[in-house]
Amino acid sequence: MLINDGGIEMRVTVFGATGRTGRLFIKKALLKGHEVVAFARSPEKITFQHERLTIIKGTLSDIDAIEKAVKDTDAVIELIGAVSEGTANIVAAMQKHNVRRLIALSAISHQDALDKRDFQRALINGIVKLTMPKLVKEVSKAAAIIRESELDWTLVRVPSLKDNGSSSYVKVGSYGRGEVGFQLSRADLSQFMYEQLTDQKYIRQAPAISS
Ligand SMILES: NC(=O)c1ccc[n+]([C@@H]2O[C@H](COP(=O)([O-])OP(=O)(O)OC[C@H]3O[C@@H](n4cnc5c(N)ncnc54)[C@H](OP(=O)(O)O)[C@@H]3O)[C@@H](O)[C@H]2O)c1
Repeated sequence: MLINDGGIEMRVTVFGATGRTGRLFIKKALLKGHEVVAFARSPEKITFQHERLTIIKGTLSDIDAIEKAVKDTDAVIELIGAVSEGTANIVAAMQKHNVRRLIALSAISHQDALDKRDFQRALINGIVKLTMPKLVKEVSKAAAIIRESELDWTLVRVPSLKDNGSSSYVKVGSYGRGEVGFQLSRADLSQFMYEQLTDQKYIRQAPAISS
């Protein structure tokens, strides 16, 4: 990690780099002076180039490619959340190469001890469970793998994502306490993930966030 101009320049590896939030995150990190390693199964979807951007092609079962992407990085951003085999491989690669900081996406369905009962959340989760049962199971498995790891993890629990809107203030808290809502813009998600690179507050925690 390099210290420069009062800021911290980091090498950050991004999984889910080709997605809508992934691309926003990469542009932000590059703009702020960081070095970015983008892991992608379809690198052609990243249509911009930068001298501090490295793209590594691979699938989430390609252990060699995952290790190459995480080796010597300062932090890993995981914007997939529902491919538990991939999460297991990323966590194992990080542990092998002594990379500690993992900021990973999770979802509204993932329960945290600080949550209280919430009718609207229960309704949303009920519908998602009915329509996408496999997705819900994968989110739960992926989160359990991260929680059981020795890493400095943060599980960022998100509701429904939308493209429009960027607030200057992202709500952070637990469900059932009136602290967070049920809509989140990808710009706000990307901003919150970015802030976690230098913020220790949510290490080994699973904050729920909303716009
Ligand atoms: N849409 C919602 O309301 C919502 C709600 C909660 C959570 N999420 C999750 O939040 C994340 C970010 O959302 P987004 O809308 O910005 O993402 P997105 O545009 O849908 O992109 C998803 C990213 O994950 C990658 N990915 C998905 N499955 C993969 C797999 N099996 N192997 C390798 N890469 C895989 C995609 O790679 P390719 O480009 O190669 O496909 C892409 O980079 C997503 O993972 C999504 O599932 C979404």
